[in-house]
Order: sequence, then C-alpha cells, then structure tokens
Amino acid sequence: AGKAFFTENLLIWNSEINTRNMPWKGEKDPYRIWLSEIILQQTRVEQGWPYYERFIKAYPTVNHLARASDDEVFRHWQGLGYYNRCRNMLAAARTISKDYQGQFPHTYESILALKGVGAYTAAAIASFAYGLPHAVVDGNVYRVLARYFGIQTPTDTTEGKKEFTLLAGELLDKTQSAAYNQAIMDFGAVVCKPQQPACSSCPLSTQCLAYQTGRVEQLPLKTKK
Ligand code: ADE
Repeated sequence: AGKAFFTENLLIWNSEINTRNMPWKGEKDPYRIWLSEIILQQTRVEQGWPYYERFIKAYPTVNHLARASDDEVFRHWQGLGYYNRCRNMLAAARTISKDYQGQFPHTYESILALKGVGAYTAAAIASFAYGLPHAVVDGNVYRVLARYFGIQTPTDTTEGKKEFTLLAGELLDKTQSAAYNQAIMDFGAVVCKPQQPACSSCPLSTQCLAYQTGRVEQLPLKTKK
C-alpha cells in the first residue's frame, strides 16, 4: 500500500474521472468556503445545497452576515438543526467584521480560532482559499485511509486520531492542497463509500489492503457506540 501511489492516483482520478459538481467546488472566497463547510458539518450535501445558495444571496459578504439580526439569520437557518452552529457562525462573522475589518483571516491558526471552526473546517478553508498545506481529516478520510492502508486502529480514540492525522499530512500533495483535499472528500463520497463501495472501478484497488484481504466492509473500526 504505497503512499506515493495513493496520492498520485487519487489526483488522476480527480482530474480525469471525478464529475461531482457542487456550488462551492473550486470556490476561492474564504467566506463562501467557510459558509459551505459550516453548513456541511452536520448536514448532507443535498440538504445543505439550497441553504448555501440562500445564505450567499441574503448575505453576499461576511459583513452582510455580521450586520444581520440574530432572528433573521436563525430564520434562514431553520430546518438545518444544531442551532449552536448558527450561533457560532454569527459570532465568527462578527469577529471577522470587527477584529479583521471584514477580511477573512489568512493563517490556519487564526482560522482555527474562530467560533465553530475545528481542525477539519480550518484545513478546508486554509487549503481551498489560500492553498495552505493542511490536510482535511474527517469520517470520509478515516474510511479511505483505514481501508487502503488496512489500519485497524479505532478512529474514535486519541491514538487513532493521531495516527490518521499524521498519515493524512504525509499523503497531502502540498503543491496542490486544494485539489487533493477536494479529491479525497469526493472519493470518499462517490467511490470509497460506507455502503457498497465501488471497488470494481476503484483506481486504488490494486494497492488497497482492505480490498486485497476482503476487509473493505469491516473498516474503519470504532470502539464506542
Ligand atoms: N463535506 C464537507 N465539505 C465538503 C466539500 N468541500 N465537498 C464535499 N463534501 C463536503
């Protein structure tokens, strides 16, 4: 299970085969990327898509969002649930408006410091908007890496998080972190899916340890729940 093979062929799959289309794909505006990532944190792409479009229309810049009333923003959020996300989003918008003069922060650490932004969201914004070399690590990434590398460490442990995060950083193509991060997200969503993964058409299957040993359905492992 070679690392160079993984990165190289994931990127080839992305440029030659991946046709997944979403409104925030290829987006460079950090505000729009942030908005899409906050919405997608606990919401499926199909459900989040129309909300994203409406938010962009209602609040074209972070200053528009920062100036809006809590009530109005919560009405736009209605149906997405997890209202703390909305509360944190508004707090972050007001921080950016006030402390950064409406300019989205430019470093991974300053993005991570925003309310409601964790490591995953900070890596997504830093790479998509600024090309910074931070790898996204989420459930999709755990699944793809656990299968390809045959990793048995449970993902919901401190040790697992460390191991997967370290590996994800090694696999990242730092010269094209945006393309790489979007590629692994899409690959996890359309090829290396939780159920009925498309192994027969997978460009990584010849090097995939789980596929080669018949353990695709068992990985990734979890301890809790
Ligand atoms: N889920 C979270 N962020 C995403 C993105 N940029 N593309 C696809 N799915 C996502």
